[in-house]
Amino acid sequence: MKNRQFVLASRPAGKIKESDLQLRTVDRPSAGPGEVLIHNEYFSLDPSMKGLMEGRTDYRAPAAIGDVMTCRTVGTVVESNNADYPAGAQVFGFLGMRDFSVTDGKSIPIYHYHDPVDPPAALGVLGGTGMTAYFGLTDVGRPVPGDVLVVSAAAGATGSVAGQIGKILGCRVIGIAGSAEKCRVLQEKLGFDAAINYKTEDVEAALQRLCPAGINIYFDNVGGSILNLCLARLALHARVVLCGGISHYNLETKPAGPDNYFNLVFRRANMQGFLLSDYLHQADEARTQLRAWLESGELVQLSTIINGFESLPEALVKLFDGFNTGKMMVRNEEL
Ligand SMILES: NC(=O)c1ccc[n+]([C@@H]2O[C@H](COP(=O)([O-])OP(=O)(O)OC[C@H]3O[C@@H](n4cnc5c(N)ncnc54)[C@H](OP(=O)(O)O)[C@@H]3O)[C@@H](O)[C@H]2O)c1
Repeated sequence: MKNRQFVLASRPAGKIKESDLQLRTVDRPSAGPGEVLIHNEYFSLDPSMKGLMEGRTDYRAPAAIGDVMTCRTVGTVVESNNADYPAGAQVFGFLGMRDFSVTDGKSIPIYHYHDPVDPPAALGVLGGTGMTAYFGLTDVGRPVPGDVLVVSAAAGATGSVAGQIGKILGCRVIGIAGSAEKCRVLQEKLGFDAAINYKTEDVEAALQRLCPAGINIYFDNVGGSILNLCLARLALHARVVLCGGISHYNLETKPAGPDNYFNLVFRRANMQGFLLSDYLHQADEARTQLRAWLESGELVQLSTIINGFESLPEALVKLFDGFNTGKMMVRNEEL
């Protein structure tokens, strides 16, 4: 039996092209002593993959040309020589863009869902983006009931969870997203108080209208002009959570810094970046809380699932075009 893989063929310059990833087919591996063979069933597409492909992240090892492209997956153990991960176990980890992966649980760390979950939730609300939203909002944003929380890329994987957690914790939540349909989902399905379509509305005027007393927490997924406009509307002692800056990931030269940054001084506000990797020792706490909210229905998993392993490059390109609502993933058709 074969093992399809996508390898890094070229480093993207500007936008990712599908041809930056190349399909390669090799023989299916077997589990050696102490190892397990995992069939990857769902694959996560994440904006950070672009930095890895470009070879310019300084917080994780970049991908080398010819390497199997790293990505988070959820799958099932199909052969086991390791009692910690018996055949049939549901596992999650950075197992890469391939049908089958081999690990001893340490060479590629995996998380074993002893009580299996819906695979899209394992990659979304309970996966990397859900935990990013959880730690970014609770630890960096530090919400208190009544806070006005503004979230950008709000209909995406991280933003949709950050906004929902904000609602659970008593905030008034305003989402910024790139289509009328996304704005409708935020309000009607996720219970956001208001939504702004940044592609068709005057964001500055909308923030003025919706946050007359200012923004207490801005959860920033995009950077650029939206960050700058939010900085201008901060309330006293506001917290700006720097999670990501997707608006400039495709630019070849860095944009100018936000010229409203000095409002941090006038508002005695705090702007702080964070990485999920700083919080991995607390992952169980996040998973337990997120799962409880998911099971109680307080938190909704949103996913955009593209079918077919060979759609992985197309799905990655579409992530940057705003195609997704919620977590962008690919389902392996060979289930
Ligand atoms: N700090 C961390 O540890 C950490 C961890 C995970 C993710 N992140 C960051 O969090 C952000 C969201 O990641 P995600 O995985 O949840 O992706 P996502 O939000 O599910 O998908 C990306 C979304 O970004 C929006 N977007 C694309 N280009 C844009 C632009 N020029 N301006 C504004 N919005 C744009 C699109 O939605 P629209 O239709 O709304 O444009 C798209 O759907 C990214 O910046 C990512 O790097 C950080």
